[in-house]
Amino acid sequence: METQTQFYRDTWVEINLDDLKHNVTSIKKHLPQDVHMFAVVKANAYGHGDIQVAKTALENGAHGLAVAFLDEALALRRNGIDAPILVLGATRPENVKLACENKISLTVFYYDWLKEARKFLNVDDLLNLHVKCDTGMGRIGVREVEDLKMIEEYINTQSNFVFEGLFTHFATADELDESYYRKQLKTFLELKNSLEIPPKYIHSANSAATLRFAESHFNSVRVGISMYGLSPSIEIKDRLPFELKQVFSLHSRLSLVKKLSEGEKVSYGATYETSQEEWIGTIPIGYADGWLRKLQGQEILVNNKRAPIIGRICMDQCMVKLSEEIPLGEKVTLIGSQGEGFISMDEVAKRLDTINYEIPCIISNRVPRIYIQNEKPIEVSNKLLVSSDFLKNHVE
Ligand SMILES: Cc1ncc(COP(=O)(O)O)c(C=O)c1O
Repeated sequence: METQTQFYRDTWVEINLDDLKHNVTSIKKHLPQDVHMFAVVKANAYGHGDIQVAKTALENGAHGLAVAFLDEALALRRNGIDAPILVLGATRPENVKLACENKISLTVFYYDWLKEARKFLNVDDLLNLHVKCDTGMGRIGVREVEDLKMIEEYINTQSNFVFEGLFTHFATADELDESYYRKQLKTFLELKNSLEIPPKYIHSANSAATLRFAESHFNSVRVGISMYGLSPSIEIKDRLPFELKQVFSLHSRLSLVKKLSEGEKVSYGATYETSQEEWIGTIPIGYADGWLRKLQGQEILVNNKRAPIIGRICMDQCMVKLSEEIPLGEKVTLIGSQGEGFISMDEVAKRLDTINYEIPCIISNRVPRIYIQNEKPIEVSNKLLVSSDFLKNHVE
């Protein structure tokens, strides 16, 4: 596929919006009709691009969006997205007015935050709140029934606050052993059942719970990784209820192809030595792009065949051992499909001793994302993470 020319480097990510649509509609079909899906688009939609992912998810049945921070919610609003948005993480009390003005729902998890936040609101301001329960994740959340009751009472007696949601988060829903998940679910039910009036949204399920446990759905779910076509864990990969399509692929082009004689060295430290005459290709991607040094030895697809990365990965370039002479400019695929070949996010994650979630997040902003719809590129994004306002406030 030919790429657009709005950027000037031969390395890019393709985000396949058709595959994203497939995943979202499959998840929606899997859920009862009255269960809302919140698409989790924090961290720039796990590196895929928050605006494009949010739009595609909403067009295909997602009810709302969830992000980690107020900044991420505001970025969605600035881009014209008017669906419900929930901030899952902590927000400073002094910033609640911004949330009100932009109809962004916030998460609360301790009583004093409410008292503090109220000071920053005017009489007419309405702030939608979801109360987070810590049922065993040990991160943020209310743990005791008494604390939850105090929060409920305070929210319900203050005209500025709307008790919109109650939620928790599972630590092990992606593991085959269900015991800890069941314990968390039980604790959540106890907390939920202690409420005088249940709020509009009750949610607990991440992707793993959404796909595996119907009793965790309540009336809403928060789905991230499976929407991007990735399994929440290797353990449950072959037990998923439908096929997920990996949305993110990473490509580049050979910037040089050369024949080295036996005994020649490649890259920093001169650690790689050719054992015979070898064809070596250079690719313009390196650790500054998130293609980390530990990926030395990882195979990539060139001319529909697997070829290993050899020598140390540099900041902006790396080298690959080719089985034959390949024309300069030939497309190489580092993650995703080429011909019959496929490099999964899980394969790259395994080499880095990590989980698939981390991989699209670490492919840096320096690598433009091209959005593919109906097999055609429709948009390119290479936005900077910081806004000019941020620079004004923090640098000047
Ligand atoms: C609170 C919360 N809910 C939902 C999700 C989505 O989880 P997943 O990507 O496993 O679907 C996350 C992701 O980390 C989260 O932190």
